[in-house]
Amino acid sequence: MNQYSEILLDHFRNPRNVGDLPDANGVGEVGNEACGDIMKLYIKVNDEGIIEDARFETFGCASAIASSSIATEMIIGKPVEEAIHLSNKAIADALGGMPKHKLHCSVLAVDALARAVANYRGETVEDAPDPVICHCMGIKKSAILDVIEHGIDDLDEIAARTEAMTGACGGERCRPVIEKMVKDFFGDEK
Ligand code: FES
Repeated sequence: MNQYSEILLDHFRNPRNVGDLPDANGVGEVGNEACGDIMKLYIKVNDEGIIEDARFETFGCASAIASSSIATEMIIGKPVEEAIHLSNKAIADALGGMPKHKLHCSVLAVDALARAVANYRGETVEDAPDPVICHCMGIKKSAILDVIEHGIDDLDEIAARTEAMTGACGGERCRPVIEKMVKDFFGDEK
């Protein structure tokens, strides 16, 4: 889809749970350098491990604000162990769908949540392991994901933007892996 849904527009115009949360015990902040979006998510987890409250502060586009807003609604009242499994696809679906080139905004909300939960647990968030996917060209997973997360599902376009699948093996080794990454990200839309 290329249009914003009514649900998304409503969350953009009337965002829920905006602001900081002075008694939060978990805070996660993420940014997307390419877009300039910054998202900060606060959670307050009670002694039973339930997220009692959540707030966000987001500097970004309509999709980033709507993703943050609905993500707080989706995690409040949930056990933290359940909330951590919130996926970017679930956020996009709850918003009535998102334009493909804006799906990365839903990923930002998931990343912010992961960091807030890690902070609550007292863990240090290390960047996820970043394996090389295209060995011929030395292209890492993050570089390919960055393109996919911006709504690109065409393998030729991914090749043009990242140089993955353009090496000596002609993509024989890495193409199936990248195909799966696209399928995993876009789910049924692909
Ligand atoms: S592994 Fe990607 S082109 Fe060979």
